[in-house]
Amino acid sequence: MRVLGIETSCDETAAAVVTERGEVLSDVVQSQVGVHAPYGGVVPELASRDHLRNLMPVVRTALERSKLALANIDGIAVTCRPGLSGALLVGVQAAQGLAWALDKPIVGVDHLVGHLLAVFLRYPGVETPEPPALPFVALLASGGHTALYRVDGLSLEQVRELGATRDDAAGEAFDKVAKLLGLGYPGGPIIDRLAREGNPAAVSLARPMPQRASLEFSFSGLKTNVARWVARHGRPGNDRALRDLCAAFQSRVVDTLVTKSLRAARQESVQSLVLAGGVAANRELRERASERGLEAGVRVVVPPLRACTDNAAMIAYAGALRLERGENDSGKLEVSPRTALPRVTHKGRGRRSASAPLG
Ligand code: KG4
Ligand code: ZN
Repeated sequence: MRVLGIETSCDETAAAVVTERGEVLSDVVQSQVGVHAPYGGVVPELASRDHLRNLMPVVRTALERSKLALANIDGIAVTCRPGLSGALLVGVQAAQGLAWALDKPIVGVDHLVGHLLAVFLRYPGVETPEPPALPFVALLASGGHTALYRVDGLSLEQVRELGATRDDAAGEAFDKVAKLLGLGYPGGPIIDRLAREGNPAAVSLARPMPQRASLEFSFSGLKTNVARWVARHGRPGNDRALRDLCAAFQSRVVDTLVTKSLRAARQESVQSLVLAGGVAANRELRERASERGLEAGVRVVVPPLRACTDNAAMIAYAGALRLERGENDSGKLEVSPRTALPRVTHKGRGRRSASAPLG
């Protein structure tokens, strides 16, 4: 089965062709970073307009690279939630138009499920780790979400949230701290690079949500901590101070993510921990998780960088599994800013009991 995936939930316009076995036949990602960088964050209206301009050329390129014509595609998968409503609509409308014109099935994919299944993608010529055995625990850390999940199977119904952030997502914290330090957007890769030569012990910052039992995260206190440091000492002017501050901030984030992820793996008695989402591209996170996993007897599976950040291959694969089961959302596809995954942690409100209504 060859599935065309389309992703427009935030600031990447992406299309890919992937089989139900996860083989990536093509994978095209057009970033909007240049569009949003002057504003220090994503501007939703500009995102929608840029998707509208670029989506069909990106789809055409993905088909060309897969050496397939549209007529050879067996189905279409498109991100329908969570994300910016206007941006999602561009992808969903285009996908519906294509499916209708080709008379092929179409399925909507939850972007977070795409991230969680990205570990199963196989890129030609790229070394990829053995996929994890089920069940596994996954840390999904991106710009919009940070949560731990137990994954029992490859469909939405078999994914359970164990705990999430009460406020900022990890990537959001990287982006906000970078903005505070005048470093540009997106902040994650910039801080990652600067932190490599910094000394994390040179600056004293609080450890976010260190309580032992909780699987929830909170990063806004750490961000405020950095803001206070800057208010007291001024924006670090020399390279050394800047690198040290970045290293201190990053090490606190990474330490929290790794500690809680391994705690979740232990609690759930699973053998594998999967890293997913844009923050999983962070070098220190990848290294520290692997080292500490080894000590704890947990296999840490880290997908290639391109599978971690936003892409359409993960959407095509998650959709291919649904299409393979004969599912079809034709005529009933709706967009939503929220994930369909049940949540136990709600922003600003902490953990709810399992019987509380889902929002
Ligand atoms: O998954 P993703 O590409 O998009 C969302 O679904 O949000 O994640 C983007 C986020 C941004 O906040 C970005 O700063 C962060 O991932 N990010 C990183 C790194 N690369 C991207 N954070 C830390 N270190 C990195 N190397
Ligand atoms: Zn994402």
